[in-house]
Amino acid sequence: RVRVKELLARGAAAAGETVVVRGWLKTARSGAKDTLLFLVVNDGSCHSSLQVVASRDGTEGFAAAASCGGVGACVAVEGPIIESPAKGQVIEMQAKKVEVLGPVYQSDGSIGAADYPLAKKAHSLEYLRTHAHLRPRTMVYSAVMRVRNAMAYATHRFFNERGFVYVHTPLLTGADCEGAGEQFVVTTLLPAAAEGHACGGRVELPRLADGSIDYTKDFFSKRACLTVSGQLNVETYCSAMSDVYTFGPTFRAENSHTSRHLAEFWMIEPEIAFADLEDDMNLAEDYLKYLVAHALEHCDEDLTYFESKDCPGGEADLRARLRNVLENDFVRITYTRAVALLEEHIASGKVKFQNPVSWGVDLASEHERYITETVYKCPVVVTNYPKEIKAFYMKLDADGKTVSAMDILVPKIGEIIGGSQREESFDVLSQRAAAMGLEPAAISWYADLRRYGTMKHAGFGLGFERLILFITGIENIRDVIPFPRYPGHCEF
Ligand code: 4AD
Ligand code: MG
Repeated sequence: RVRVKELLARGAAAAGETVVVRGWLKTARSGAKDTLLFLVVNDGSCHSSLQVVASRDGTEGFAAAASCGGVGACVAVEGPIIESPAKGQVIEMQAKKVEVLGPVYQSDGSIGAADYPLAKKAHSLEYLRTHAHLRPRTMVYSAVMRVRNAMAYATHRFFNERGFVYVHTPLLTGADCEGAGEQFVVTTLLPAAAEGHACGGRVELPRLADGSIDYTKDFFSKRACLTVSGQLNVETYCSAMSDVYTFGPTFRAENSHTSRHLAEFWMIEPEIAFADLEDDMNLAEDYLKYLVAHALEHCDEDLTYFESKDCPGGEADLRARLRNVLENDFVRITYTRAVALLEEHIASGKVKFQNPVSWGVDLASEHERYITETVYKCPVVVTNYPKEIKAFYMKLDADGKTVSAMDILVPKIGEIIGGSQREESFDVLSQRAAAMGLEPAAISWYADLRRYGTMKHAGFGLGFERLILFITGIENIRDVIPFPRYPGHCEF
């Protein structure tokens, strides 16, 4: 079997070879009084498909191919590659044999296109979301997934080229990294206690007299959650192996119905030893630029598609937006400056926001987008946020009011990266944790890193799906992850 991508990459040089290609029909059209059949076969290896011409006289399996249900059917085609006499493609196949591997069935059991949910050509992304198990077969989703794959590969390449070690941090955890109260709780009865219960004992745990949960029958004997971030765990490896990163799923029970939030999303979190906020920003900028350069170099065909009218919501100047990232140094401003700037623009009537702006309040997505899209027109790094609106582990600045945090804002998205220098002092960390209401016992293992051989260190988290939105120009985060989870939606 040859992949369509390989064949098309070789172009006319592949003419004369006899090959087998397997894939799914994008279209099937008959011609010349039903003596010819034009099949467009896509195997997902690239955006383009292979045009296959079958003939009643010269192709074994012609009759079955002519009545396989058309779009969506799975076929194996075999025959010589020829230079295409028609416009629009360099090569095509003259099929000697077509084998229908999987026809398309209708609800009455007969073969035909009537019930295939993707039979019509154009579907909205909203409609396709309701068919998450079939949408990989559409041009737009296969293109998104190829870009996702390329960005994951580039991520591992980037960090490995720089000597980072990939650490697999746990998904089940007893810690709450961000302290934002957005964790999914996983309470499960011990198998013995759960006997007779379906679903592995995922039932109400017994309560103590004071109403609190009795964890003695819990699988973990304590409140366990799905992780919101791998950071605290990866910091333990940073404190031994210097430069590390984690890349995995994270979960947040935010009741956010926006096009930028998911309940399950992937995050890349590097952690660097002997590094301060400046080093952190430099690494983040290099990494983002590396990803963009990799996409421009390796995802050309898919980017062309994302720029075209064929792509739902296609963005005509996508590549210009991406190149802009490579051509400019990111602007770096403090949170205090960002707030002053927004206040100036509001006062002079340049802009109106729904959310109020004042020092101490977290920036809303509309503020972030205004700063990056309208004021600077390039990625902007905002630093030194008020300590009250950031997590306990961030390094307290000398003024005692702000922390060495940084968020990177990019056009179209707003915040794509959040990071900070970490508090390395045991005493300051302990005070900050206490001030934020954290039980000392809950973070004692984390505080140990400051007790035994502490060092200056920093890190950040890149939201992988927000990156994919940025690279593809797709509008909704639910359309750049194979199976999106958001309030009310956990199908498949
Ligand atoms: O800013 P956040 O919350 O930072 C952390 O979790 C740190 N522990 C990272 C670190 O320093 N190691 O999240 C990081 C990024 C955000 O900038 C955003 O891109 C993405 O994760 N993100 C989400 N993406 C999709 N859906 C959500 N609900 C997201 N929440 C955060
Ligand atoms: Mg953040």
